[in-house]
Amino acid sequence: MKIKTESSTKKKTHLLCGFVLENSNTVLGLGKFDVKITSAINQSLKDMGGKFGKISIIPAPKGKPAQRILLAGLGKKENLTKDTIRFVSGKIAQKARELKLKEFSIIVPPSFVTDQISSVSQIVEGSKMSLYKFDKFKEEKAGSSPDLTIIVPKSNKISQAIKTAETVAEGVIFTKSIANLPPNKCTPNMLANFAKTIAKKNKMKCSVISKPELKRKGFGGITAVGQGSKNEPKLIILEHNHGPRNEKPIVLVGKAVTFDTGGISLKPGEKMDEMKFDKCGGCTVLGIMKAVSELKLPINIVGIVPSVENMPGGEAYRPGDIIKLYSGKTAEILNTDAEGRLILADALSYGERNFSPKAIIDFATLTGACIIALGTNVAGIVSNNEKLTKRINESSKRTLEEVWELPLTQDFMDMIKSEVADMKNIGIGRAAGTITAAAFLRNAIENTPWTHIDIAGVAWTQVATKEKPYNPKGATGFGVRLILDYLQNL
Ligand code: BES
Ligand code: MN
Ligand code: ZN
Repeated sequence: MKIKTESSTKKKTHLLCGFVLENSNTVLGLGKFDVKITSAINQSLKDMGGKFGKISIIPAPKGKPAQRILLAGLGKKENLTKDTIRFVSGKIAQKARELKLKEFSIIVPPSFVTDQISSVSQIVEGSKMSLYKFDKFKEEKAGSSPDLTIIVPKSNKISQAIKTAETVAEGVIFTKSIANLPPNKCTPNMLANFAKTIAKKNKMKCSVISKPELKRKGFGGITAVGQGSKNEPKLIILEHNHGPRNEKPIVLVGKAVTFDTGGISLKPGEKMDEMKFDKCGGCTVLGIMKAVSELKLPINIVGIVPSVENMPGGEAYRPGDIIKLYSGKTAEILNTDAEGRLILADALSYGERNFSPKAIIDFATLTGACIIALGTNVAGIVSNNEKLTKRINESSKRTLEEVWELPLTQDFMDMIKSEVADMKNIGIGRAAGTITAAAFLRNAIENTPWTHIDIAGVAWTQVATKEKPYNPKGATGFGVRLILDYLQNL
């Protein structure tokens, strides 16, 4: 999909698309067109009424610059959100592809609707993300993506916004495309190779720590969880150092369990296939790192992705085992299905000790409890630092990738105390499962500002997921836009 700008609606296009507010009699940004078309537009406006997400297409008479005109409803002005234009642009783009068009044009609404830069970014993100489809293993492909012309007064700021939005969308798409891979096509080693590929392309430093070295260096969580699979564990580290030489980096950590059977504490069969998405946190980190390096953000940032396959078998770790984590603390295993916190604890401690970061943010499909607490459209946040969480909340308000904070007080820390080791890997019964998992992670770091984002409900589309054109079935890439916004506003 190529994207360009055009400053007038008088240029040739296969499909000229404009936004309409509910019960309005104008197409936003479309000047006087032509009497004949105008009366057709007026009729169509009455029919569709500008209802949110509604689309109506009018053929234009022969010889006109636009072959067809598309009206897209935004709904009521007072209900507009920071996601409306993105959402509706996605619908438009999918329509253009359905019509097998080579190109389509979208008129940017005037700034009394939303500011133009934000509109342009949303148009680009919405269109691009909505045209991604996971069809790698199907003979029948989605069809090629039409090119997009954005109709807006030209300026450097606009070109810059387009470029940035394209890179952000490509980051999300990269995350989705690896997160959607089945577990036989994305083992920890394969994931490490994807990381190496993006690192090479974008001149990042990439190191991958393999099993013998993981053992030698005391990564007791990663090696324990990984020992049941013949697909050996890997610890992937990506570094982008474009900030001042002595500036402390931001560390991002992402859980990448390429398949979570539960291990000896085997999961029930129903929907177990969805545990191919248990690598989404790691995929989010890789997508962010790819975009950060392409945007050449002037910051120091490290992405750390512990990757394992959690399998039962003769070599697998067991309930009752006591292991020693990278932090030096010991953990009693009471359920081998609570594996994410073990590999994350190692990665968090490693990140803090070796990079002295100014902040650590982690992403993980960590607990089913998070789905019970917050559903499938809001991610859970647990943190030890109000300032960092506030920043992430502000980004969330802009990108509309929603988050909600849960408390982490001493009482929750006490819930993971063990009789025989420093900690146990589960809490008490099912109480506050998301927080007790986070309490385990909290023990892995000393005092670095840290925010944990539990994406169990939002990382892929589930039954209760709100439908969005830019989130077709499968992985959503949640967190990529959120954290790129945070990093761009540091
Ligand atoms: N990957 C799962 C969490 C999960 C389950 C995410 C379903 C999304 C959908 C995690 O490894 C896990 O199994 N957690 C257990 C923890 C429990 C054993 C304390 C859970 O949530 O049941
Ligand atoms: Mn599990
Ligand atoms: Zn898991």
